[in-house]
Amino acid sequence: MKLWGGRFTKETDQLAYAFNASLSFDKRLYRQDITGSMAHVNMLAKQGILTDAERDAILSGLAGILEDIEKGALVPDETQYEDIHSFIESNLIARIGDAGKKLHTGRSRNDQVALDMKLYVRDEISELNSRLMDLMDALNDLMKEHAETYMPGFTHLQKAQPTTLAHHLGAYYEMFRRDLSRLADTHNRLNECPLGAGALAGTTYPLDRNATAEALGFDGPTANSMDSVSDRDYLIELLSDLSLIMMHLSRFSEEIILWNSNEYQFVEIDDGYSTGSSIMPQKKNPDIAELVRGKTGRVYGHLMALLTTMKGLPLAYNKDMQEDKEGAFDAIDTVLVCLTLFTGMLKTLRFHKETMAKSAVNGFTNATDAADYLVKNGVPFRDAHGIIGQLVLLCIEKGIGLDDLPLSEYQKICPVFQEDIYEAISLKTCVEKRMTLGAPGELIERLAKEPAI
Ligand code: ARG
Repeated sequence: MKLWGGRFTKETDQLAYAFNASLSFDKRLYRQDITGSMAHVNMLAKQGILTDAERDAILSGLAGILEDIEKGALVPDETQYEDIHSFIESNLIARIGDAGKKLHTGRSRNDQVALDMKLYVRDEISELNSRLMDLMDALNDLMKEHAETYMPGFTHLQKAQPTTLAHHLGAYYEMFRRDLSRLADTHNRLNECPLGAGALAGTTYPLDRNATAEALGFDGPTANSMDSVSDRDYLIELLSDLSLIMMHLSRFSEEIILWNSNEYQFVEIDDGYSTGSSIMPQKKNPDIAELVRGKTGRVYGHLMALLTTMKGLPLAYNKDMQEDKEGAFDAIDTVLVCLTLFTGMLKTLRFHKETMAKSAVNGFTNATDAADYLVKNGVPFRDAHGIIGQLVLLCIEKGIGLDDLPLSEYQKICPVFQEDIYEAISLKTCVEKRMTLGAPGELIERLAKEPAI
């Protein structure tokens, strides 16, 4: 059943019809489509374009359709209808008769689909927000628990300086905090209502665009009707936000995979988030973390796809834009499930504190602090750097750490060293004395206070 058969003399080629149809994927917009139609109809009646009786008939017809779809009594038939808009309109006409034919007065599917997608994205942003906040809560709990769990910090994946697990996790907390604020920006910018833009040039009916915008929770109507129906910037922004979330989850996954390896043994992923091997009985693999990392490419792909789809389109609506949906839906679904699983995996992760602390001690992570000791005792930093470099070389030859080198050896190279060098380069000092804002020592103090972050 088509909305546009009038000027045609031949049936659409079957394959062309299927190729053109979008119901198989835009059916998930049914709620937003009905919500938008209800606001449109209320406004049409208020403006005297429809009678109150027509409005009431349409509203109750739409409410019935919504209820039936939701309880599974009405299933969008993909062989008969082109898209969710024609499916709902045809159903409405079948239910209430002639009044249903007036629903589309002063509207086009172009402004309708633009509205539906904005409403959908708004709903999904609030779902994404709450999953991100669950993840941040889990991180916050772990940070409080591990305020003084020592571990090595790395640069170039080489041990660099000691830090705490809370400090390391806190870096991810900051990334997700920025992700939240990016989603809020996207929401704020998209929150202008395209309804009333019509096909591209508005309409001659006296529509009250402010009223529909307000009824649907928008900050106001969009300013240019051509832009309203051809703008997909907000989807590209969303896909970019989602790509960044995935990039953060992917880096975090990569670290958990490393930490969970036999070589590191910093953590053990719970059985609930691991899988086995069909051949090697001993294996417990971090598949969930690997898949989160893997699915990052898929989300990036959707961003590139939509950017590419949009780049050559003349104004205003073009059917190419129907290609915005599957990628956006899939990206949202992917990020939602990745956030949920990742949070579950994180909450059940076991941290091997002793292994982490031991790893933080060896590898000369206290070399900077040894140099700083000399600086505090009057040696210029560049000289101190050279002296500690020589001591590190000596320790490597002896197969020991700076903590185990006898004071006499220290003094042979530089007489400034005294007994208090050992305290100055202890793991505890190295971490706790790092009190600059944002450093691990300062974080210990901050985490002791409520609220922590
Ligand atoms: N299914 C279409 C889409 O997703 C709806 C808009 C159709 N508009 C049109 N002029 N054919 O873009």
